[in-house]
Amino acid sequence: MSTNNLSIPKHVAVVMDGNGRWASSRFLPRSSGHVKGIKSAISIINKSIQLGTKYLTLFAFSSENWNRPPEEISNLINLFTRTLEKQVDRLMTEGICFHVIGDITAFNYDLQELINYAVRKTADNKRFYLTVAANYGGHWDILQAIKLMLIDKENFLFERGCHNLNINDFNRYLSMSWAPDPDLLIRTGGEKRISNFLIWQLAYTELYFTDIYWPDFTPLDLEKAFEWYRTRERRFGKII
Ligand code: IPE
Ligand code: IPE
Ligand code: MG
Repeated sequence: MSTNNLSIPKHVAVVMDGNGRWASSRFLPRSSGHVKGIKSAISIINKSIQLGTKYLTLFAFSSENWNRPPEEISNLINLFTRTLEKQVDRLMTEGICFHVIGDITAFNYDLQELINYAVRKTADNKRFYLTVAANYGGHWDILQAIKLMLIDKENFLFERGCHNLNINDFNRYLSMSWAPDPDLLIRTGGEKRISNFLIWQLAYTELYFTDIYWPDFTPLDLEKAFEWYRTRERRFGKII
């Protein structure tokens, strides 16, 4: 694939779905699908850097995933913890700035500390921006933005007046305010829905759905998604 930088999505968001079905179809426990899913995530991070994408946002655990059986939840949390522990040094050597979006106060203290440590340590890296959405929901994001805005009202709302509030003012309080909105959303695993991912930020994102289960999603599949993205005509409401 030729890589014309103009047609490379700057921000790619991914709903990494299908781990459980990947495992079940092999008569394996769902947990082995999650383990294999981590390998896919690492290879997709590497490929994204190589292709020239700047921001990659991975949906790892939704605010609704607490409704899963407790063993699966603790398995996912442990896997996230172990992976982050192992990969912090690589984030540094690769120049990756790491973020987490979502309400991390629901996680155990050690994981919160580890996340905060990784975020602080990588804060000055500028080569690539990796964000993991953990205990994230689009509804939560909008609500926390409203709360922050109201708390900030003395500095902001009273001064500006709520009649003058505009979209950019609101954007400042969202959890990804520092990043451009995603250009491309990839969802693996066959479902054609957003599942409460970045609902505000996906307003004009190109949506790419594939039946491939996340553990089977390869760097070549990422290139195919980018190839498809290149064929899109993004009009943003205009006539071209
Ligand atoms: C995605 O795979 C990973 C998480 C939601 C944590 P699933 O676990 O949803 O896999 P399926 O959709 O059941 O196959
Ligand atoms: C979306 O997948 C969340 C993540 C990939 C983390 P789900 O498997 O939770 O989504 P639904 O339940 O099929 O909509
Ligand atoms: Mg799923």
